[in-house]
Amino acid sequence: MSGKSSRIPKFYKLSIEERLRKVIEFAELNEDESKLLANFGNLDRKIADVMIENVVGGMTYPFAVATNFLINGREYLVPMVIEESSVVAAASNAARVMRRDGGIRSIATESIMIGQIQLVDVENPFYAKQIIIDHKDEIIKIANEQDPILVKLGGGAKDLEVRVIDTRIGPMVVTHLHVDVKDAMGANAVNTMTEAVAPYIEDWTGGRVYLRIITNLADKRLVRTRVKVYADDIGGEEVVDGIVAASAFAEADPYRAATHNKGIMNGIIAVALATGQDHRALEAGAHSYAAKDGWYTALSRWDKTPDGNLVGTMEMPMAVGIIGGAVKVHPIARIALKIMGVTTAKELAEIMGAVGLAQNFAALRALATEGIQRGHMKLHARNLAVMAGATGELIDKVASIMIKERRIRFDRAKELVEQFTKTRKL
Ligand code: MEV
Repeated sequence: MSGKSSRIPKFYKLSIEERLRKVIEFAELNEDESKLLANFGNLDRKIADVMIENVVGGMTYPFAVATNFLINGREYLVPMVIEESSVVAAASNAARVMRRDGGIRSIATESIMIGQIQLVDVENPFYAKQIIIDHKDEIIKIANEQDPILVKLGGGAKDLEVRVIDTRIGPMVVTHLHVDVKDAMGANAVNTMTEAVAPYIEDWTGGRVYLRIITNLADKRLVRTRVKVYADDIGGEEVVDGIVAASAFAEADPYRAATHNKGIMNGIIAVALATGQDHRALEAGAHSYAAKDGWYTALSRWDKTPDGNLVGTMEMPMAVGIIGGAVKVHPIARIALKIMGVTTAKELAEIMGAVGLAQNFAALRALATEGIQRGHMKLHARNLAVMAGATGELIDKVASIMIKERRIRFDRAKELVEQFTKTRKL
């Protein structure tokens, strides 16, 4: 045992500086490391300190924009924050070949989120179900009393559904409250409503409520996206056939579907991070929706048209907001929304659907042709060159030599940078 302890009473009550000091001591960070960690970048330290608990510093990711997006007849520069190279370039390239037929069409439904209320210990679950349904108007009224502002905006609880499910500890009666959350992601509004309604449900049924929480399987808040890509823009019918085969593979095989959908989420999560969304909720929604029919499958589908071109479609939940949460407090999230000129959560969902489908297309096209590594490696090689100390023109010089040699490694990058710097000095 080192004598160090992670048990630090009232750590959360300390100032950022005091907490950082404790971390520095604990981890024996040197001066450079401590300075870097203490740098909050473009986020105000006071805002950071109230966003989450136990804040000690900040961490910056690159903020990029994908170009060429034409969605529902509107031009968009799409902000993306991501650590993976190639994603932004791939999205931009895909969006470029998606402009010819008028761009990407993407339509989101109304912002209906679902809150779940779990009722157990009822003698007659189906009887309890009917009791709850009989009180529908009252439940909706109680729910809406929790959020008059949302109701004023035309949102609020709208409907109710009650399900009886079998579980290993017996039947449960699960009430679904359907809430139109308008421009919010909606978790706060929905959770407050489910908590308010729960005691009444207990009262009426004599059962016991445990969980009262939003579901991330937001299957009433979907985005539907479609696009046509011309074969002659992407290397001919052979490429179209390759993409269709990749799609069929993912539709049939969950091992492939997981990676296929990961490619979709590369685009969606990058926009989600740039705009301060709850990206875990988006991931949960996407993957649960991909398994909604009892098996896990692809969220998108690519088909060949009779004239040999390619059409892609996708349907998935997209629970995003433009008010509340990090979107409200993080200045960069606000700037990201401004770059897109987004004024409603529905529009943001439509853009994110379009980016997901474009990202998916880019991955399948690369996989069906030259493979994914070439594009990846180019950026990876540049990254390594920079890490090895290359600047300016030297970055591309070192990167292209490593690619040619097929030796894309840090030690080689360092060797080359040293070589070039030496010869330059001579
Ligand atoms: C890598 O981040 C994403 C891909 O694996 C997606 C896919 O395989 O479709 C390339």
